[in-house]
Amino acid sequence: MKSSTQRREVIAKEFLNCFGGDPQCWCRAPGRVDLMGSHTDYNLGAVLTLPIGRDTWIAARPNHSRTVNLHSLNLGADASFSLDSTEKNLDQPWIDYVHGVAEELREEGLRLVGFDGVIHSTVPLSSGLSSSAALECAAATVFEVLGGWQLTPLKKALLCQRSENRYVGVNCGILDQFTSCMGEEGCALLLDCRDLTSRPVAIAEGIRIVICDTKSKRELAGSEYGERRADCEEGARLLGASSLREVGFAQFSAREHELPPQVAKRCRFILEEHARVLALAGALSAGDRALIRHLTAASFDGACQLYEIAAPAMHTMMAAMLEAPGVIGARQAGAGFGGCMVAFVEAAQVEAFAAAVRSRYATATGIESEIYPVTAAAGAGMI
Ligand code: GLA
Repeated sequence: MKSSTQRREVIAKEFLNCFGGDPQCWCRAPGRVDLMGSHTDYNLGAVLTLPIGRDTWIAARPNHSRTVNLHSLNLGADASFSLDSTEKNLDQPWIDYVHGVAEELREEGLRLVGFDGVIHSTVPLSSGLSSSAALECAAATVFEVLGGWQLTPLKKALLCQRSENRYVGVNCGILDQFTSCMGEEGCALLLDCRDLTSRPVAIAEGIRIVICDTKSKRELAGSEYGERRADCEEGARLLGASSLREVGFAQFSAREHELPPQVAKRCRFILEEHARVLALAGALSAGDRALIRHLTAASFDGACQLYEIAAPAMHTMMAAMLEAPGVIGARQAGAGFGGCMVAFVEAAQVEAFAAAVRSRYATATGIESEIYPVTAAAGAGMI
C-alpha cells in the first residue's frame, strides 16, 4: 500500500464489506525499534527508543451494544468479545490484545462503548517491532475517543502494559507501550524506566535508521524472556537491591564473583547496556560514527556472550549488515531470539546498503529478508 490515502480507502472498503456503511473514528499507534537498551526496561534502566512510521490503524464505529466486533485485514479473520465478560477467545488469540485493554479500562471505571472495527497494521507481526503494543495502544485510543474521556499518554501506556502483563500473560516491561503512546515525530526518545520520563534525542543529519528483518519468527510468551527477567531479579535480590538500576558498577564488580555465573552474566550485560544507552544518545546527536560503531558492536557482543539472546539468523544478519556499504553500526533489537535487527547507515547509501544486505543474507540462508529505513513517528492518537 503506497500512500495513507490508499490505505484509508482499502480499510474503508473492508469496513463496508464487514459492517456496512462508514467508520466514524480512525485511530493509530506506532511500532518501535530500540536503538540501544535490550532488556533494560524491566530492570528500570534506560532505553533509547524510536517510534516508527510502521503503525496499526483501527477504523471504528460504535454499534450501540456491549460487543466489540473486529476484522483484521492482515489476518483475514473476524473475532468478537463482550465488554461484560473476561473469557478469552482461544480460536483468535490476537483479539486478547484488545480485550485485555478493555478489561484494564473497565477496572479504571471508564465508560466503554461497543464498536465494530477494522484493524490494519504495517508493523510486521511477531518480529520484534511491537505489533502487540501498537494494537493495544490503538485500541485504547478507540475506546477513549468513543467513550468520551481522555487519558494522559503515560497513563494509557501503563494500562496497556498492564493488560499485556495480566490478560495476555506476557511479563513485559514498559518500553513498547511507552514508545507507542509517547512518541514524537522526528526524534528518538531517551526513556528512563525508573521514573518513567523521557527526553527527545535528535538523530544527526546524514544518519538513517534501517530495520533488517531476519524473518525468523519469535514469540515472547513462552520464550526465554521470563527466564532472563528472573535471572536479573535474582541478581538484584542477591545484591540487596530492589532492582539492577540501584546497583552501581563498582558495587557489582566487587561482588560479581558471589553470584551464580549465569546470573552474574545477565546482570553485567544489563549494567553495561544501561551505560551504553546514555553514551549512544550523545553519540547519535553528535553524529559520532566511531562511537556508534563501538557501542553497537559491544551491545551485540553482550547479547551473544552474556545475555544469550542472539539466534543463529541474527549472527548471519549481523555479518551481512557489517559488510554492507554505508554501515556505521548494527545490533539486535527487541527481545532478541530472531526477528528484526537495527542498523545505523549513511543516508546517501541506504539503498546500496539494503541491496547488499538482502543479497548476502539470501545467499547465506536462502531467506528473503526485509530491509527498510524508518523515521520517528508520533505516538498513538486519532488520524
Ligand atoms: C520486549 C518487551 C519489552 C522489552 C524488550 C527488550 O519488546 O515487550 O518490554 O523488555 O522486549 O528490551
